[in-house]
Amino acid sequence: MCGIYGAVGVPDAQQRVFAGLQRLEYRGYDSWGVAGLNHDTIVTEKHVGMIGQTKEFGLPSVSQAIGHTRWATHGGVTQKNAHPHAAHDGSFVVVQNGVVENYQELKAELLAEGYQFVSETDTEVIVGLLEQQRGTHADLSLADVQSVFQRLAGRNTIGILTRSGEVFAIRDGSPLVVGRDEAGAVYLSSDIASLADDAEMAQILEHGQGVHLLDQELIFFDAQTGDTFSPHFIPIDTDSLIISKEGYDHFMLKEMHEQSAVLQNVVDHPVADLQKLVSAVRKARKVYTIGAGSASFAAGQMAYFLRLAGVDAHVVPSYAADSYVDLANSSDLAVVFSQSGETADTNEAVEHFQDQGVQIASIVNMPGSTLTHLSDFPFMLKVGTEVAVASTKALTGQMCWGWLIAELAKTDPQLPTFATVYADCKQAVGRYQAQLREWWHNTAVQSTLQHLSEQLRDHDKMFVLGRGQLFSSALENALKMKEISYIHAEGFNAGELKHGVIALIESGTPVMCLVANDTEKANMLSAAAEVKARGALVIGIAPEENELFDTWIPVPINDDFISISAILPAQMLTYHIALAAGQNPDKPRNLAKSVTVK
Ligand code: AGP
Repeated sequence: MCGIYGAVGVPDAQQRVFAGLQRLEYRGYDSWGVAGLNHDTIVTEKHVGMIGQTKEFGLPSVSQAIGHTRWATHGGVTQKNAHPHAAHDGSFVVVQNGVVENYQELKAELLAEGYQFVSETDTEVIVGLLEQQRGTHADLSLADVQSVFQRLAGRNTIGILTRSGEVFAIRDGSPLVVGRDEAGAVYLSSDIASLADDAEMAQILEHGQGVHLLDQELIFFDAQTGDTFSPHFIPIDTDSLIISKEGYDHFMLKEMHEQSAVLQNVVDHPVADLQKLVSAVRKARKVYTIGAGSASFAAGQMAYFLRLAGVDAHVVPSYAADSYVDLANSSDLAVVFSQSGETADTNEAVEHFQDQGVQIASIVNMPGSTLTHLSDFPFMLKVGTEVAVASTKALTGQMCWGWLIAELAKTDPQLPTFATVYADCKQAVGRYQAQLREWWHNTAVQSTLQHLSEQLRDHDKMFVLGRGQLFSSALENALKMKEISYIHAEGFNAGELKHGVIALIESGTPVMCLVANDTEKANMLSAAAEVKARGALVIGIAPEENELFDTWIPVPINDDFISISAILPAQMLTYHIALAAGQNPDKPRNLAKSVTVK
């Protein structure tokens, strides 16, 4: 998952690209580079590190430029491996988002022909193949680009700027959007939001579609057949895309607080759409809930709630779908969770289930995503743009939506009472949001969390226990502690404790116990007692206090949404710990917001 930005036809194209990459930094921030056509020479500047931390930028004013912000897949984080990558004769540069899965084979072929590689990346294989394909011609042709692109295995989106002033771009996998402004300047970007500062209109490229810019003329083509097609540019709705911290120190903090305001949007859908989906859920032979990372925990939570509603539902993490796909058929339904709608693991799993005839429902936060296009029952999460790499409002929104569908699945959607049940659900969410607002502003709770974060920050391991409806929450809490404060937290079913894990409990080991007023409460308190007996620091996340808790973090008393409430403290804890360690919670190391490569 990297970011690509291009600008053609403006006098400060290099600056537009620099600023565009800053807006795309969430997609990858190992290194970055910009190339511009200065008269008939391509000049390039590349840096290791986050573009947002760069003060000086030395490219001259040019009217054509392309750039890239990198999340390393092949080759270390070095200036040499940063994009754009140039042809040996400087006649063109290439940026890429994706993985050339057959790059070793292609690299061996090029090496055998004496090609000299400069970097360790798979991207440079594309450069070598283009130089080879061009042969003795002075410039690349569209046919050259198409021919090379067809040799690349895996999902790849590429951009090419040539010395003759042409731009080629093809999208397969990671998104690519073509923008235009009123003066006719052309832009390229990995997302539509980042175009809003430059362009008024946008054309989202589908998989396998490309664009060729020659003398200000835009030609849209099918990368396989070469057939051209007419674009349908759409206005860029800037109001819905404004991204600001709104006074918060970090996007993560803003987005955590927004959880008490966005859940109403999450459950607000046309009744007819809900009736169609719920009918499909109730009719399905099996329901597979699918997602990656945090989205897989939301998927697991929904599968749990669906089973309680009598539906044969199973969570399938996107990257573990292979053994399930062959068993699936047209009587089954997949419900797919993804904030970005562009996660390669998830979209690939969806395509395999679709090949089996499985119908696809999805809940996605980013408008116009690939997953939405793939879906028979597309739903939008509507929690607003989530910028921080950590999924907070999107994850709790996904869990809330999963709860809604499972609640509605208890009622025949053809009955008049369906609308009443839906109205009751929306009221329940409204009441819960009021509790969330109160919880976030409870200074005693927030002070306890701050103090606890000071206790935890020097620990390098911790455990998070949950059972039943809180098992997914335990997994999510552990992921948050790992990805934001870099504490090796392990989430698991409390019942598993005695089957091995308890061997790791030592004096002072932090153990977060998620306790609800449900049928698992006694089991959870037994687990707390067992770890406490071995010296653990027991952190109770629960509506009520208990003598077993060394530290108690109270959560709203609301049985419907306890699985969401149990997640909130870990969000704040990991945020505080990251800050105390001098880290940027919005951009944790090695991660990116949208994982568009496998
Ligand atoms: C969550 O905090 C992570 N950033 C990550 O696990 C994320 O949820 C996962 O990559 C799935 O992304 P998606 O929702 O955009 O598909």
